[in-house]
Amino acid sequence: MSAPVITLDGPSASGKGTVAAMVALRLGFHYLDSGSLYRLAALYAVRHQIPLDNEAKLAMAAVRLPIAFRDGRVWLEDIDVTDEIRSEDIGLCASRIGALPALRSALLQRQRDFRHPPGLVTDGRDMGSVVFPDATLKVFLTASADERGRRRYKQLIGKGASANLQQIQQDIADRDERDAARPVAPLRQEPDARLLDTTRLTIDAAVDQVIEWYRAIA
Ligand code: C5P
Repeated sequence: MSAPVITLDGPSASGKGTVAAMVALRLGFHYLDSGSLYRLAALYAVRHQIPLDNEAKLAMAAVRLPIAFRDGRVWLEDIDVTDEIRSEDIGLCASRIGALPALRSALLQRQRDFRHPPGLVTDGRDMGSVVFPDATLKVFLTASADERGRRRYKQLIGKGASANLQQIQQDIADRDERDAARPVAPLRQEPDARLLDTTRLTIDAAVDQVIEWYRAIA
């Protein structure tokens, strides 16, 4: 039998990454932040000047993207790009290439390869719908658009970056719209996914809820 998988899908800055990483830690499971793969592919395209609409070339590059995950850091072509892939610019590029079906197919197997015992917790947009349709537990995690904008703003300010709340809220809205409107693997709650609205929840409460759901069915 395949190792269990918990998927957390949802819009940008909903807190799904933080919650997924903590759930993985508490259960002793592996963790995959699938967005980082799209961000790495985007950064690779920018570095190698591959136009973001050149689907065939991007897909070819994605199949053998030279990446590594070590000690909580992310590497692209042997360079530590953990912080670089988090920029809003790379997020927007990732969202653009994420709309390309061939690029998505190229990343499919790479994501499935993360499924190992004792289990996997993963977050993204289509983890429950496309990548792991047989997931043990599927969660759709969201928060109000205002709250998500505030969270991203605080995150950037906390890192010492300059940030404009209104601009961030606009960028998040644009990205959500593109992610939800694309014909392939659009962002949406699957009928078999449980809804977790974190607008008024602490991170710990959200983590507890996911673990409680998982323990009730596992
Ligand atoms: O989650 P994160 O903000 O890092 O994702 C960056 C972009 O990558 C998203 O806006 C989305 O377009 C794309 N993505 C995706 N499918 C995933 C994960 C991310 O299309 N499973």
